Amino acid sequence: MSTTSRTLRSNDVFKDDLVVLGIETSCDDTAAAVVRSDGEILSQVVSSQADLLAKYGGVAPKMAEEAHSQVIDQVVQDALDKANLTEADLSAVAVTIGPGLSLCLRVGVQKARNIAATYQLPIVGVHHMEAHALVARLCDKDLQFPFMALLISGGHNLIVLARDLGQYLQLGTTIDDAIGEAYDKSAKWLGLDLRKSGGPAIEELARRGDAKSVKFSVPMKQHKDCNFSYAGLKTQVKLAIESKNINAGIPFSSASIQDQGLRADIAASFQRVAVLHLEERCERAIQWALEIEPSIKHLVVSGGVASNQYVRARLNEVVARNSLQLVCPPPSLCTDNGVMIAWTGIENFRLGRFDSPPPAIEPDGCQLDLRPRWPLGEEYERGRSVARSMRTARIHPSLTSLTQALQDQCS
Ligand code: KG4
Ligand code: ZN
Repeated sequence: MSTTSRTLRSNDVFKDDLVVLGIETSCDDTAAAVVRSDGEILSQVVSSQADLLAKYGGVAPKMAEEAHSQVIDQVVQDALDKANLTEADLSAVAVTIGPGLSLCLRVGVQKARNIAATYQLPIVGVHHMEAHALVARLCDKDLQFPFMALLISGGHNLIVLARDLGQYLQLGTTIDDAIGEAYDKSAKWLGLDLRKSGGPAIEELARRGDAKSVKFSVPMKQHKDCNFSYAGLKTQVKLAIESKNINAGIPFSSASIQDQGLRADIAASFQRVAVLHLEERCERAIQWALEIEPSIKHLVVSGGVASNQYVRARLNEVVARNSLQLVCPPPSLCTDNGVMIAWTGIENFRLGRFDSPPPAIEPDGCQLDLRPRWPLGEEYERGRSVARSMRTARIHPSLTSLTQALQDQCS
């Protein structure tokens, strides 16, 4: 969402030959891509910090920042080279400005501003979670607003009603951890190989286990809303590991066959309950959303965890029961990527939501517009959780309230 906006002339809006570079550095992946406004992906490059993740068992902001800084120039250059283009061929640069780790966001935003200033290109500041949702519109050209979106990643667990570009009604969010965090920690405690991140490791191991063998309880049963909680399930997994005397210090590959079997049972049981929680909340959210917007036809499921086949299969059943269609981007577009940023840049650019090129020399001490804590939507009254204990300090006004203010200004 840009801080200033210029309305394009109507014939510009329909011009469909835009070429946009998207840059993403909000968390642990450095990604860039070049996308055309007709939806063609000209290139896509991701440099992941999997080795750092495996070593520290999580994202350490300072180290993640360094890793981004080391590769950002190369990642962007590779994206341009693979697209057979130079910066001068671009129509605009799109970059994630939030939410995310501010040290990491800064690396991408600085790179985007340098390019935009040198080549006098407009710049589009993108909301990372809006991008996870909107990339589904690149994959499925029939996907029109309004639609629902379940966004499940390492740091976010959101279910929203997407009413229009920049306008989201938040039906539910997590009151503590996101599902991806629960996958990652469970994988770490089970001694799995984290080089592909915890989610895929649990998904693979779960195929070998008995999903009913460990009795985990489904979170928040007593709360009849659409919010999520994964902190308690994480603790249940930890306790199960301890009670079965599994030594997570011993990597999975070196454990005995019997020990490996126990770990697989925990992985499968965890996954079943983690996804059951998603299913229950989605079922209710669909009812709520249809009461608000009866014309809804689609549920988009996106974010890293949406690349999980079991998650997709279970949610497909929920959606089918409610006569909706599931839209899941391919796994490479579910996990963090530059394509979703470029595409969201294109959607915003078409509506005139972009900033003019930055000055060639930025004034000293110039404050970058970074939004580490930036809600996507306005909270649906009925969805407000009594169990909620979210910190509210230093939260940026939501994308939706900014879009609304912009529209009020223009009307
Ligand atoms: O969207 P994403 O790439 O980054 C964030 O914005 O957080 O999501 C990363 C999360 C990690 O927690 C990772 O373990 C999880 O997505 N993930 C998966 C799978 N692939 C990635 N979780 C479950 N199953 C998977 N196959
Ligand atoms: Zn993400």
